[in-house]
Amino acid sequence: MASRPELVAPPEIFYDDAEARKYTSSSRIVEIQASLSERALELLALPDDGIPKLLLDIGCGSGLSGETLSENGHHWIGLDISPSMLNVAVEREVEGDLLLGDMGQGLGLRPGVIDGVISISAVQWLCNADKSSHNPILRLKAFFTSLYRCLANGARAVFQIYPENINQRELILKAAMRAGFAGGIVVDFPHSTKKRKEFLVLTCGQRAVNSIPEGKDDDGESCSDDDSEDEENQTVRVSDRHRPQKKQKWNKSGKGKEWIKRKKEQMRRRGNAVPPDTKYTGRKRKDRF
Ligand SMILES: C[S@@+](CC[C@H](N)C(=O)[O-])C[C@H]1O[C@@H](n2cnc3c(N)ncnc32)[C@H](O)[C@@H]1O
Repeated sequence: MASRPELVAPPEIFYDDAEARKYTSSSRIVEIQASLSERALELLALPDDGIPKLLLDIGCGSGLSGETLSENGHHWIGLDISPSMLNVAVEREVEGDLLLGDMGQGLGLRPGVIDGVISISAVQWLCNADKSSHNPILRLKAFFTSLYRCLANGARAVFQIYPENINQRELILKAAMRAGFAGGIVVDFPHSTKKRKEFLVLTCGQRAVNSIPEGKDDDGESCSDDDSEDEENQTVRVSDRHRPQKKQKWNKSGKGKEWIKRKKEQMRRRGNAVPPDTKYTGRKRKDRF
């Protein structure tokens, strides 16, 4: 991707009629999006049981990514915010069902009905605030929480993303973990500026697989599991995370204001220097992030 369209205009404006046609008629884009979708489907690791699955394509655009799902025998629902992109998809007679909507407002789908999700070159758009009412953190939260809800237990979601920097990658990853997903980032061709591609691979539910697949390297070999960030090369090979444990509120362990006061009395009786009791003694502190 030569430039960052998300910095030019909101998606529904950037992908107008002219841009939607230009995008879909570029043989280079068609080829790139098809290979990204193939890889996302591979990372989705659907059971090889010959049964067609119901998949979601988030930010489906004109249906280039969804076509890969059809070619592999699956049913799909595509969501996109750009009417022009969806019009081109309709003209191209894609096989998926198309929904016009903003992923940042959450998905209104029934719980547990989706077998897997792919999203190609779309989710980084959520990191930008296009309107004064837009808060990227809240929009990512609405998206990932609603996505988690509509997935079947153990289902995977694979997002090929173009984060602008490390902070954006972290923002997206954190929002996904907070929504309950496990997983991390898989990077293909981490040492090639041109070929380098990032995939956020997530699993939901109790059957969540605790490890994520390996990225591909330039020599076609798999990259080894490596949680580290290579600052010099600005590459993350693979990071594997789980939902953060909720911090235990210390009051729950019985150490409330009364307990603190008793302890302080005890220490004073022993002749220790103890800070005076104030209205702040034993106060509840905000969680630190
Ligand atoms: C680069 S295109 C990719 C389209 C398609 N996945 C493909 O591979 O050809 C990114 C798509 O994400 C969509 N998009 C961006 N922000 C969105 C949002 N908030 N909700 C739904 N779709 C969005 C855009 O309208 C655009 O069609």
